[in-house]
Amino acid sequence: MDSKIKTLQQKREEALLGGGAARIDAQHKKGKLTARERLHFLLDEGSFQEIGMLVAHRSTDFGMEKEKYPGDGVVTGYGTINGRLVYVFSQDFTVFGGSLSETHAEKICKIMDLALKNGAPVIGLNDSGGARIQEGVVSLGGYADIFYRNTMASGVVPQISAVMGPCAGGAVYSPAITDFILMVENTSYMFVTGPNVVKTVTHEVVTSEELGGANTHATKSGVTHFACANEIVAIQHIKQLLSYMPQNCEEKAPSLPYEPGNELRPELNTIMPENASQPYDIREVISHVIDDGSFLEVHKDFAENIIVGFARLAGRSIGIVANQPAFLAGVLDINSSTKGARFIRFCDSFNIPLLVFEDVPGFLPGTDQEWNAIITNGAKLLYAFCEATVPRVTVITRKAYGGAYDVMNSKHIGADLNYAWPSAEIAVMGAKGAAEIIFKREINEAEDKEAKWQEKEQLYSRIFANPYRAAERGFVDEVIEPSDTRIKLIHAFKMLENKVVNNPRKKHGNIPL
Ligand code: COA
Repeated sequence: MDSKIKTLQQKREEALLGGGAARIDAQHKKGKLTARERLHFLLDEGSFQEIGMLVAHRSTDFGMEKEKYPGDGVVTGYGTINGRLVYVFSQDFTVFGGSLSETHAEKICKIMDLALKNGAPVIGLNDSGGARIQEGVVSLGGYADIFYRNTMASGVVPQISAVMGPCAGGAVYSPAITDFILMVENTSYMFVTGPNVVKTVTHEVVTSEELGGANTHATKSGVTHFACANEIVAIQHIKQLLSYMPQNCEEKAPSLPYEPGNELRPELNTIMPENASQPYDIREVISHVIDDGSFLEVHKDFAENIIVGFARLAGRSIGIVANQPAFLAGVLDINSSTKGARFIRFCDSFNIPLLVFEDVPGFLPGTDQEWNAIITNGAKLLYAFCEATVPRVTVITRKAYGGAYDVMNSKHIGADLNYAWPSAEIAVMGAKGAAEIIFKREINEAEDKEAKWQEKEQLYSRIFANPYRAAERGFVDEVIEPSDTRIKLIHAFKMLENKVVNNPRKKHGNIPL
């Protein structure tokens, strides 16, 4: 028996070495951790249970039968993060560049199947040269098997992808289907076709980093939700993200213990500038309302005219969607609409209540927006709010103009409670523009046109630049002092805790894509 146990130990040791010491050194020299080191930092100490450590590829072309590494380039299994079960896969770049073989894919599919059956999140740490070139179509089949499972698991268990090295070609579509992508600055990149192909086809000269690095995807494309300074920061972000989520769609989002205290926030009474066209940072409002330091902003550097992220209110996990008056006056455009919609759908899938702060002057005008389909894209945000059945509360801090008023979680599309600050202006458009249109003749015929315009602007403003017309109709449930916002919201979300809404039965909706 001793010799048999020794054989097992030898095989295990071999597997732990991945592609060997030299390749591990090369990985470290690039500023990257190995697949196993990443899992060590991600999971609670001693919690990792590996599955498929001795799996080997079955390829025989190009002399591959002579080159086998136990585990075949991916470490898979399960463990816990802060005591909660998660399934993990971590690609090992030291084995055939982390490339995806048939068996490598089977290992990933196995843990995804387990995650679905047992209702726990899947975390993928990606570091791979793509499809195993020596294997041809079986490797491509392996990718498709993963994409299919990503899609089936979507909305059932949270899926998080961290890209910690190359992720190119078809490989990008697994992270793309998952709920959140994190990338590491300078050592990771994602693109469908790399710089060489780009140069051949479009004659553009671009580096990997420019084309698909973390900062590019965090700011320009919005493909990644987080650009992290290094792998440890990325791992910390994964843990923090998970702390706001339930294990699966049947569970409620977790709560932390909470001791009630003085919930008045007098600072909020002085945040709003006197002049309604002056910006302020909605993050300041958010930070005064939520539990101290609990905000985790998602997609921070993309479409900054809308802010989305997770927070806690009296210990409860909530999702926040807020117009940002400090960027493009908080206007809605294509990118902010898709950013908001995707976040809302995640929260709704996983029973995370939604809190909306509204200060929106409308949709961004222009040919660029119209020709790139602001109609279809704006509709995504509208649709996402309409179909969301989680508790939904809105606070209108200032502008709620035009169609954007409807879209931003209005009562009409299913919000449960809508509050307005006394500074709220709820109207079809701003007073100046409105006066110009409805009093056009009077202004044109006046001797002093400017004075007439101002007079009419003030008239429109008196009637509509306030929350009281909306409150009279019940479109706003209560006009509140800003300092009371936190108290009101704590009560509102507690009251809505057991909300049940069943949308009409259907196969699935057809969100405008
Ligand atoms: N299939 C099989 N082996 C692969 C591979 C793949 N797709 N990608 C990389 N490898 C192997 C390399 O042969 C090398 O093996 P070695 O350690 O025995 O020398 C090892 O992985 C590391 O690759 P290397 O090219 O030395 O690393 P790098 O950091 O310089 O470059 C890539 C990384 C990913 C840019 C580069 O390997 C590459 O372009 N790979 C092919 C990408 C691709 O076209 N994939 C298929 C389409 S999805």
